[in-house]
Amino acid sequence: MDGADFSYTDGDVDTNPTTGPSIHEMIETRYSRRQALFSGLTASTAAIIPGLALSGCGGAAANPIANFQLSASNPTSSAGRVVGLAGAASGGTPVTFNWTQVSGPAVALVGADTATPSFVAPGVTAPTPLVFQFSAGIVGGGTSTQSTVTLTPAVLGFTAVAKNLNDIVTVPAGYTVSVLYRLGDPLDAATPNYVGDGTDSNFARRAGDHHDGMYYFGLSATGTAPDPSNSTRGILCINHENITESYLHPNGVTSTGGVRPVDEVIKEIECHGVSVVEVARAGASGAWGYVRTSPLNRRITPFTEIEISGPARGNALMRTQFSPDGTRARGTVNNCANGFTPWGTYLTCEENWAGYFRRAAGDDAARTATGLGRTNQILQRYGAGGNGARGGANGWATATPVAAGDTRFAKFDISLRVGAPVDGTGDFRHEFNQFGWAVEIDPYDPNSTPKKRTAMGRMAMEGAWPGRFISGVRPAWYQGDDSGGEYLYKFVSGQPWTPADATAANRMATGDKYLDAGTLHVARFNADGSGQWLPLVFGTGPLTAANATFAFTSQADVVIAARLAADAVGATRMDRPEWTAVNPANGEMYLTLTNGPNRNGTTLPLDAANPRVYVDPPSTTRSNRNGHIIRLREAGDTTEATTFTWDIYVFAAGSDLDSVNINLSALNADNDMSSPDGLWFSRSANAGGVGSPLLWVQTDDGAFTDVTNCMMLVGQPGRVADGTVRNVTSTLASGANVTVQTRIGALPGTNLRRFLVGPKGCEITGIDSTPDGRSVFVNIQHPGETGAAVPPNPLPSNWPATQAGAPSPTSRPRSATIVITKNDGGVVGV
Ligand code: FEO
Ligand code: CA
Ligand code: CA
Repeated sequence: MDGADFSYTDGDVDTNPTTGPSIHEMIETRYSRRQALFSGLTASTAAIIPGLALSGCGGAAANPIANFQLSASNPTSSAGRVVGLAGAASGGTPVTFNWTQVSGPAVALVGADTATPSFVAPGVTAPTPLVFQFSAGIVGGGTSTQSTVTLTPAVLGFTAVAKNLNDIVTVPAGYTVSVLYRLGDPLDAATPNYVGDGTDSNFARRAGDHHDGMYYFGLSATGTAPDPSNSTRGILCINHENITESYLHPNGVTSTGGVRPVDEVIKEIECHGVSVVEVARAGASGAWGYVRTSPLNRRITPFTEIEISGPARGNALMRTQFSPDGTRARGTVNNCANGFTPWGTYLTCEENWAGYFRRAAGDDAARTATGLGRTNQILQRYGAGGNGARGGANGWATATPVAAGDTRFAKFDISLRVGAPVDGTGDFRHEFNQFGWAVEIDPYDPNSTPKKRTAMGRMAMEGAWPGRFISGVRPAWYQGDDSGGEYLYKFVSGQPWTPADATAANRMATGDKYLDAGTLHVARFNADGSGQWLPLVFGTGPLTAANATFAFTSQADVVIAARLAADAVGATRMDRPEWTAVNPANGEMYLTLTNGPNRNGTTLPLDAANPRVYVDPPSTTRSNRNGHIIRLREAGDTTEATTFTWDIYVFAAGSDLDSVNINLSALNADNDMSSPDGLWFSRSANAGGVGSPLLWVQTDDGAFTDVTNCMMLVGQPGRVADGTVRNVTSTLASGANVTVQTRIGALPGTNLRRFLVGPKGCEITGIDSTPDGRSVFVNIQHPGETGAAVPPNPLPSNWPATQAGAPSPTSRPRSATIVITKNDGGVVGV
């Protein structure tokens, strides 16, 4: 028989038994057709099985064994999609089916004992045949035949989502969004369900606010050990960067005589930090949920004790009343993007921590008078200069201690306290230096003490994403410092990668090995498309006590004052370096430069890597308002490289902007965007990360929000230097035109599409997937951020209550993690 009615091709195959014909119905159909066709069969077309007894079926004129034959489909599909196999029999009623794989990349067949099994196509880099053996049996005998599936490399497999201003997460047709883990969700049975009217407490046992960077760590089926390949049970580490304080309390933020109430302050502090939360899927294709009662659930907050590790450990600039020997820190704050290690730990990065600290007017002078003048240089360079007079975000330092010796709130005042020891052990003058680090967390051990890895440097650290781990090669982590005109850093471990360390029993000790010693570098981007990694090593170049701007006396000084060290070696000032991501197929590193608020062409000149200044109406501001994504290729494609080449993957812009000097990447209605921020490549464990891996771009924007809410796009970028050299002309505020030559990658065209638009007032940030790529986790941060101090009615957003469909005008918005799945069970995005 022909295979026409089984001619499945790719992801369109219907494997859902509730809507398609059942296996029994299919068999009945085949059997009926067989009856009709039977008289046309000849011996030459039938598979003859000699020596078998006749069954009773069909009678003497229709020997079902002698005439029993099979056919099977030979579909084609691109990687990552659900492929349906289809076998059919004639000449007898099959009583058994069996499919086995003969050759090609191994797949997991679903329904291998049916006529029509399916599998999720693995990643391939070139057209690849997969051969299957299909056998079927009838009473007393059987036969078999082969089916060849031809797989082609993954391609984008969805229709772009239109820009919109709706109060809901929009994804392409064929995909489903479910809400997984929201602000306030309890992390144990004892903590009450979240009410959401501002009366909830104990956020040390609830989801925090402003979900941000995130990573999925697989768990064994029993939940007791790491299993990096498990796609149905795992741990999510989720950063809680900040708070929308107006929604956290019954009547918004309050204070009395300038003093914040303790309960409000504790809630706000505990809403920051990190969640470690177990998540599980009900079977291979079921619903996701977070596991409320998991013993692995943990909150790390600005109150959690953290160990200081690396060159700054015990340094004089790290001593505080809480840790007189400078080896311990209390908590982590403003955890933005993230990174991971292959030994099963999470890296959470401290970004805009500087704003939380109060300083008294005159504190500069007080420091100078006590011989601490050089600490003013650090405070100035990290955003807390100006001779003090800073209130500190949220006024936490004003809260009254709840007991004698309670310094949890006082530590947010970094002013010198009159009469306190000059070494800083009696106040919190050095508390400022305890933030700005990458913090390593062992998600598998809820009793472990996190460590601040100071060898990686101190900055407004957006994230710390690793390059590829190659046996015998020193691994590296790429770190953006998110502030206008700051730098891109790379930390290269001092130790070459040993693959056996991926399963080391003591994960934090493995972190000591790779993350406590190595070389911090900062990037210089040259106009000719080359670049250098400039080492920040005490005693070399300008990084000595003789430096006229800042006297470096040790490597501890270099890492604590990394911005000053980077200034000294001549790094390139970039337009707000945000997330980094590494292409798993070739090791090229991408960096979002979200926008350049202070790039004006005069005080911050244009250069080849930051070449645009323009006006984007309705704003009248002249800046790099929409941002761009730069990428680099390491010399020799190794993380150890000290030089690289670079180009710009995409310039963000509205598609209505000038195509000659602003919309340089020719973005259109399907992919125009502003302020790229979150950035992530699909994991190499599934088809989305093989061949031309998918790059996911998330926006945190205030420029395009008159047209659309923030969004997430997916692209399949090419390689560094696949485009052209291009001249870009900007008109400065003076009216003068400045032309800069830059390097722009191949235009993305349809290989970059909008995949998601978020609800009102949100930022899209934080993404990971299960290893199989069939579930993608995304964070929706601060929906309804524009809300008034006291929640009005109606609220500016009611998400995530709106995601279920029913409007809920009194429901306060909540940051949350969502899960995106493809309805047919395929890999998301392809
Ligand atoms: Fe927290 Fe730079 O975004
Ligand atoms: Ca960010
Ligand atoms: Ca941001």
